[in-house]
Amino acid sequence: VGVASVAWPLIDQMNPDASALALASTEVDVSAVAPGQIITVKWRGKPVFIRNRTPEEMKKLAGMDSKSLRDPQTDADRVKKGHENLLVVVGVCTHLGCVPLGHAGEFDGWFCPCHGSVYDTSGRIRQGPAPLNLALPPYTFTSDTKIVIG
Ligand code: FES
Repeated sequence: VGVASVAWPLIDQMNPDASALALASTEVDVSAVAPGQIITVKWRGKPVFIRNRTPEEMKKLAGMDSKSLRDPQTDADRVKKGHENLLVVVGVCTHLGCVPLGHAGEFDGWFCPCHGSVYDTSGRIRQGPAPLNLALPPYTFTSDTKIVIG
């Protein structure tokens, strides 16, 4: 009993406190994101866009050749299996870090007003100076309607 009561406070101090954990990961109820809607959540101080893509948007992406893209990635590379309609990307332009505007630009994905980078509905760079696709944060589905980012 004596040993246990000494050991516990030491172990307890080694656990990160709840506020540190809250900053490291963000839980989102994605059932509230309607088809066609983009929501922005905050994760580690950065915006993360969650977009529920419509069947029409998915159809357009399916017919697209990804090999000739600047940062070649298929749409399937950028989403989770079984939840293909849902795109989760870091909302920071890969040129110089502005926050792009959703449902804008030639591909109706995102448009960065700073220097004119255009992303498609998969968050892939299509025009303008940005070198890379919008980054994918680490995330997992904890149920059919919830994701945890981080
Ligand atoms: Fe987005 Fe320059 S920061 S185009």
